[in-house]
Amino acid sequence: MAEVPPGVKGMNDILAPEVSKWQFLEQQARDVLEAFAYHELRTPVLEYTPLFVRSVGEVTDVVEKQMYTFDDRDGRSVSLRPEGTASAVRAYIENAQWQKESVTRWYYIGAMFRHEKSQRGRLRQFYQVGAEVFGANEPSVDAEMIAMLVTMLTRFGLDAGALEVTINSLGEPEEREAYRNTLVAFYRQHVAKLDEDSRRRLETNPLRILDAKTPEVVALNANAPALLETLSDASKARFQRVQDLLGALGVKFAVDQRLVRGLDYYTGTIFEIKTKAGELGAQNTVAGGGRYDRLVASLGGQNTPAIGFALGIERALLAIPDSAESYEPALAVFFAPMDAAALDFALPIVHQLRGKGIRIEIEHKPGKLGKSMARANKLRARAAVIIGSNEMASGKLTVKDLANGTQSEVALADLEAWIRRLLD
Ligand code: HAM
Repeated sequence: MAEVPPGVKGMNDILAPEVSKWQFLEQQARDVLEAFAYHELRTPVLEYTPLFVRSVGEVTDVVEKQMYTFDDRDGRSVSLRPEGTASAVRAYIENAQWQKESVTRWYYIGAMFRHEKSQRGRLRQFYQVGAEVFGANEPSVDAEMIAMLVTMLTRFGLDAGALEVTINSLGEPEEREAYRNTLVAFYRQHVAKLDEDSRRRLETNPLRILDAKTPEVVALNANAPALLETLSDASKARFQRVQDLLGALGVKFAVDQRLVRGLDYYTGTIFEIKTKAGELGAQNTVAGGGRYDRLVASLGGQNTPAIGFALGIERALLAIPDSAESYEPALAVFFAPMDAAALDFALPIVHQLRGKGIRIEIEHKPGKLGKSMARANKLRARAAVIIGSNEMASGKLTVKDLANGTQSEVALADLEAWIRRLLD
């Protein structure tokens, strides 16, 4: 036998019934985003590599270790998108979006690619629902976005009480620069306690040490100077206003002064949502985001404040308690023709009903009624229609309500109405 060519590690097929749960989640996400007046944005999955290097940041894990980067046939370096914000910013600038509207609200649903160690809730091709707002720097926009995200997660069926919303402010880059020096001085006094990764970050990206997972560094971080305290009064007041508005919108949250995000473009408010629900284990951060007021300009656009988030679809799905089966649309009717002539008789009827949007399966190998009924039940059909020579002669079909097992006769002309009554 020929060897089976395997799928790529960390990249999954999504089959029924799981796909129904995906569709449910995506529909809920769209409904919420549309209610908040976002428009969908579709960008390519491939971009020239410098876009990500310049936006996500050269010394981030994503760019240093995780991108799928290769030269295309023209010899230009391209990368599969590891996230959606960089592409949204590129599209915003290239399409001169600021000339069309003062505030742009975009959302996207799509695959992202990161060469990470795959495990539950961490894949190499994973999907995000993301949203970005360009052209508005009011703190109310920050609060509104975080509240929208909570609404979305609860619409998925996650228990609001099991969500942990954490926020922090990174302030302006100039403020962060001063803090960076304070932080580096602090860590230099405790170099012995730093792990290898953190020592490297001390030179490249010291704020990321705050996010370290080794117990010694975690303990050290408890005493590290807090960024929030070093921020200007204006930044502090802005952050306070975000918190006040979150309170007014009924969002429960905690300020975590150690929260830093893994991507370099952030300024001001940042946030993450974890969930205690479901089967997530260690990968329980379902969503993250924040402001990136300098990114559009740094990629050559106008000075444009912006904020966004992305949520991991696989992780959200793991946290939704209901089984995938419960999201599967039930079959309306199963048609069971008894012989070849009955199949020929039934096929045009079925075709017409399907054209009217009724979900129908028909047995193409007519014969054993018992077998057909077993399939109808397996497919969770609401009703079965049985067609044999008697039915063809009389024009009256034998119909069976599979919920209660009652069998009756329905004239062909009344069949659609009968099915619709049943489905109501
Ligand atoms: P991020 O925190 O890198 O942010 O990713 C957002 C979410 O995507 C994570 O919280 C997680 O749920 C999911 N995710 C990330 N990596 C993986 C993976 N390997 N497997 C499964 N799920 C994953 C961003 O991507 C930013 N672009 C968010 C943003 C938008 N900030 C501003 N605008």
